[in-house]
Amino acid sequence: MIVNNARFVVSAPSAAKCPADAKRHEYAFIGRSNVGKSSLINMLLGRKDLAKTSSTPGKTMLINYFLVNDEWFVVDLPGYGYAARSKADRAKLEKLIKDYILNRMEMTTLFVLVDSRHAPQRIDLEFMEWLGENGVPFSIVFTKLDKLSSTAAKKATEVYLSALMERWEELPPVFRTSSADRRGREALLDYIEELNNLPLE
Ligand code: GTP
Ligand code: MG
Repeated sequence: MIVNNARFVVSAPSAAKCPADAKRHEYAFIGRSNVGKSSLINMLLGRKDLAKTSSTPGKTMLINYFLVNDEWFVVDLPGYGYAARSKADRAKLEKLIKDYILNRMEMTTLFVLVDSRHAPQRIDLEFMEWLGENGVPFSIVFTKLDKLSSTAAKKATEVYLSALMERWEELPPVFRTSSADRRGREALLDYIEELNNLPLE
């Protein structure tokens, strides 16, 4: 798929405030703080600073909407698991994220980002388990693969997927990406295009 245009639409403070004018496919991106969500969105949409990125984790506190090709939405969700946040803030974010995921019927799939350099983290595995229990369609997106040699990258993603296979009978779709060298872009966009062709319920 070719991205002809992309623009920021709105930052919603809660699931209830998400766009309600037209029903469109929407694809949400989530993962731990600093995993590279905003960078991946910019890479996919071919825009340098559309989604705000930061070396300080926990920047995105809102549900950010981007309209692509005047047709479908990309949603940048707040990162979870940022330890330096207050307990109250973390609880608020968790509610925001869960409300969105469970109630947003337009969300065609959720891309769960994991940093390819890290061994499987409990917080991610538990989050994916929760998605499974709630029947939420999701994919796994490995990020920052440019930071590993190709052998190390292959090994790291294989180790990760075998850990998942211990818990799951079947793996969700898996994408290997880098926002720095743009790998994985075509595969992700093709997948989105395929899903865009499905009727919206
Ligand atoms: P929050 O919104 O705070 O949860 O973070 P985020 O998940 O949106 O991460 P963001 O895209 O802001 O990236 C965090 C840091 O990782 C930034 O310093 C990025 O430049 C860097 N980064 C993101 N993706 C990549 C990548 O593919 N390769 C490399 N080398 N660095 C990356
Ligand atoms: Mg971000």
